[in-house]
Amino acid sequence: MIFSSLTTIAVCALAGLTQGAPTTNLRSWEEAYAKAESVVSQMSIEQKVGLATGMGWEKTLCVGNTYASEDPYFPSLCLQDGPLGTRFASNGTAGVSGINAAATFDRKLMYKRAEIIGNESRGKGVHLQLGPSVDIFRAPNGGRGWEGFGEDPYLQGVAGYEYVTGLQSQNVIATAKHFLLNNQETNRTTSNSVIDERTLREIYAWPYARMLDAGLGSVMCSYNLYEDIHACENDKLLNQLLKEEMGFKGFVMSDWGATHSTVPSANGGLDMTMPGDVIMGDGLSYYGKNLTDAVERGDVSEERVNDMALRIAAAHYKMGQDKGYPETTLKTFDRQNEPEVVVTSDEHIKFVRDIGAASVVLLSNDGILPLSSDGLSKIAIVGSDAAPPSVPLTSSLNEEECTDLACNDGTYAMGWGSGSVDFPYIVTPTEGISRRAGESVEVAHSYDDWDTEAAAEVAQGADIAFVFAKAPAGEEYLLVDGNNDRQNLSLWNNADNLIQAVADANENTVVVIHSTGPVLMPWIDHENIKAVVWPGLPGQETGNSLADVLFGDVNPSGRLPYTIAKETDDYAAHISHEYNIEYTEKLEIGYRHFDANDIEPLFAFGHGLSYSTFEYEKIKVNTHRGKHDTLATATVFVKNTGDVDGHEVAQAYISFPESAGEPPKILRGFERVFIKAGKQTKVNFEFKEIDLSIWDEASASWTVPEGEFTVHIGASSRDIRQSATFSL
Ligand code: NOJ
Repeated sequence: MIFSSLTTIAVCALAGLTQGAPTTNLRSWEEAYAKAESVVSQMSIEQKVGLATGMGWEKTLCVGNTYASEDPYFPSLCLQDGPLGTRFASNGTAGVSGINAAATFDRKLMYKRAEIIGNESRGKGVHLQLGPSVDIFRAPNGGRGWEGFGEDPYLQGVAGYEYVTGLQSQNVIATAKHFLLNNQETNRTTSNSVIDERTLREIYAWPYARMLDAGLGSVMCSYNLYEDIHACENDKLLNQLLKEEMGFKGFVMSDWGATHSTVPSANGGLDMTMPGDVIMGDGLSYYGKNLTDAVERGDVSEERVNDMALRIAAAHYKMGQDKGYPETTLKTFDRQNEPEVVVTSDEHIKFVRDIGAASVVLLSNDGILPLSSDGLSKIAIVGSDAAPPSVPLTSSLNEEECTDLACNDGTYAMGWGSGSVDFPYIVTPTEGISRRAGESVEVAHSYDDWDTEAAAEVAQGADIAFVFAKAPAGEEYLLVDGNNDRQNLSLWNNADNLIQAVADANENTVVVIHSTGPVLMPWIDHENIKAVVWPGLPGQETGNSLADVLFGDVNPSGRLPYTIAKETDDYAAHISHEYNIEYTEKLEIGYRHFDANDIEPLFAFGHGLSYSTFEYEKIKVNTHRGKHDTLATATVFVKNTGDVDGHEVAQAYISFPESAGEPPKILRGFERVFIKAGKQTKVNFEFKEIDLSIWDEASASWTVPEGEFTVHIGASSRDIRQSATFSL
């Protein structure tokens, strides 16, 4: 008996936990607060402050840990990055980045991705996953745009909602970051974001409001300042906006080293300081004894400390972490001694491959794709972006050469920084394509990006030539060739010349780009470039996901979560080097700016091709004013008019009455639907009151404007197929 139950435990550990299993023990906020109250009310002031204080950088198992309380018992909470998997963990899955989740435009895939991230975090005993990131991809070269869900707040809001629901279903507390207005890496700790009240809410706070509906447990305040006050001691952002106006019930933690004071932080709304130190690693803290002293002096009320502890404990109990939660087995700062706990599984890996394929955006295609292996005898593959990296993609804080994946010189499948995780392996594009093409097809390659002659030689005579290129980026504390925010929108490593050389040499050239965001494409009109494929940052199964699409095993349906412009200057916002970062574009960010100023993008927000074609017809709109929260509904029929089955992503954009002062149209719905060839399906959209509201500065409230609305439904922001008007 004993033997068999031990065997079961060992087998479970090896196979990874069953995904989706631990959705039990979740509590409502009400129940969670009642439980928190019963425990926190027995705590001394020191114990309560302990819950709010990190134990210090490099002192603990996780990137952050709080102090435990013995009696009454409350555990040390383990906080770990995030947001795409478990950082510094062996035997986990290196999945797709946030930007790819966004590119699927599919709620179910977004949810499932987060469920897996949650499942693996839980398996390692992580209480708080430091994700999702919902920083709006404001400047196209922003270094961390790839961690989040793109340029549109609605898309960020939906993806954030699904992330929180999926992650928290696994009992792990989600941490939405970075609150607020941290949209670039350059001077991220010293710059001051300047923005009007309406834009603040309609664009930047919008995704947080949606995540609150999902029961979000925690929010990370950001490094930057707002109104000349650090975000983590900013009463207006944390108390007035997040907690009072938006009704946030969870707790606010600081970004690492973003706390700058004791009293202003505590009174400004910061509930937990992370990783605890004044300066990372110095062993001092603005909270801990300093906070207890401030209470004794009367500078911070005891009530406020109760509130911190209650919020933290309530988030913990809401996620049901008090019942059978796995022990923390991570060893972030001592990785050699990490116990072997396997959290990946075949199911997780298969999902990564599937969502990787679902997020491939086919930007252009003259019919060369999908490839058929019949009649194919030679494929050329050019570019280091198809090659195996020269060092293992395993991050370490102690090995200078590959800190947090800034070392990758091979195929690019994840950005660098705290948002990276270890790759257990990587299936390169060359491997994926070769395997799928089969042994009868010769695959020749040239990986030296600077040797354009060798590239042309390999490309000549091949039936098809793939040229791979990349545009990496990442977090501020690591500079790669002067980049964290990208210094420009050009491809890296001589890629434009490489593409030109391959296209000159082979009339069937296909360009594949692994990029953290938009790039310039000076070669786009080359007559030999027959397709451009955009797989984003797909994680460990990258080569397989790509091959699935290239060979037509998966019909592409990924859509751009940002605009690709013809010129850098076409964008509304750019990285600022000033102290004041002025959000002068206001509501006109991303495609809204292109629409408002009549600028033709190279590839529009929401764009992505299929191997099939779809027609839209019979739009209908109904209004429901006064009846319930949904004020209007729209339906449209979408027909697959091509020869192959596939997914279509129908997108709904709303034009507000002119008096509202909104950009020409804004995304307020999307549905990814599977339609068999020759068949049609009805697609429904619901527009809730908030979807049709603007932030009215005069009344300081969300208001539905008077007048005529138009709903536009189509295949991208620039491919509208059906429109109808309605008034409320
Ligand atoms: C700083 C990053 O901004 C944040 O996103 C991350 O969670 C923390 N470091 C912890 O690694």
